[in-house]
Amino acid sequence: MPLVAPSLLAANFLKLEDECKMLNESQADWFHLDIMDGRFVPNISFGPMIVKFVRSTTKKYCDVHLMIVEPWKYFKMFKDAGANNLSIHIEACPDLLKNIEEIKSLGMDAGIAISPDTPIENLKDALPHINVVCMMSVYPGFGGQEFIPGTMDRIKQLRKMIDEKGLKVKIEIDGGVTEENAAAIAAAGTDVLVAGNTVFRSKDPVATIRHLKMEG
Ligand code: DX5
Ligand code: ZN
Repeated sequence: MPLVAPSLLAANFLKLEDECKMLNESQADWFHLDIMDGRFVPNISFGPMIVKFVRSTTKKYCDVHLMIVEPWKYFKMFKDAGANNLSIHIEACPDLLKNIEEIKSLGMDAGIAISPDTPIENLKDALPHINVVCMMSVYPGFGGQEFIPGTMDRIKQLRKMIDEKGLKVKIEIDGGVTEENAAAIAAAGTDVLVAGNTVFRSKDPVATIRHLKMEG
């Protein structure tokens, strides 16, 4: 069964407390929080202040996806806001291994996010040092895009790399996950499904989360 990480980017921010309460009462495993700066990606979302408010509503694992340039400047702020994991983009980090160690030394899990056009082999050296790969299945920046089919082969390729090294790194798929494609994505070797619009635009988000977890 995959873990399910609803992305708050698609939540109704006027009712953020209710949205968090719904997730707390659901089978959602992680909260996925998308940080965008208008520079690494063309969109701007929210920062540590919102992460802190969300943190105050939940004991669940807060998975923070940093789509920002120079992310290392903000590690401590997100730690203080209550993040459990920080995923940094490989494309934004010339000194990736150093940044991973910084995240871990602050007491958080470390992840690497990878955009659709970046070769999977580029992850090789960092894999033994991280907890999760946030593999983008859309171009980062916006919720509600369609899943890029070529991601399936990338999942299989990464699964093989992780298993061959005997590592425990989780594969998280981010973007365009639906109730229709979730089973195939999980079967390809995914551990964590991120879902924004599929959860928050659903008439029954709790049931949708259950379906994504393949539990009825
Ligand atoms: C996109 C974000 C995703 C996004 C997913 O840049 O990283 O987490 O919220 O949204 P959906 O599930 O709607 O594609
Ligand atoms: Zn994300």
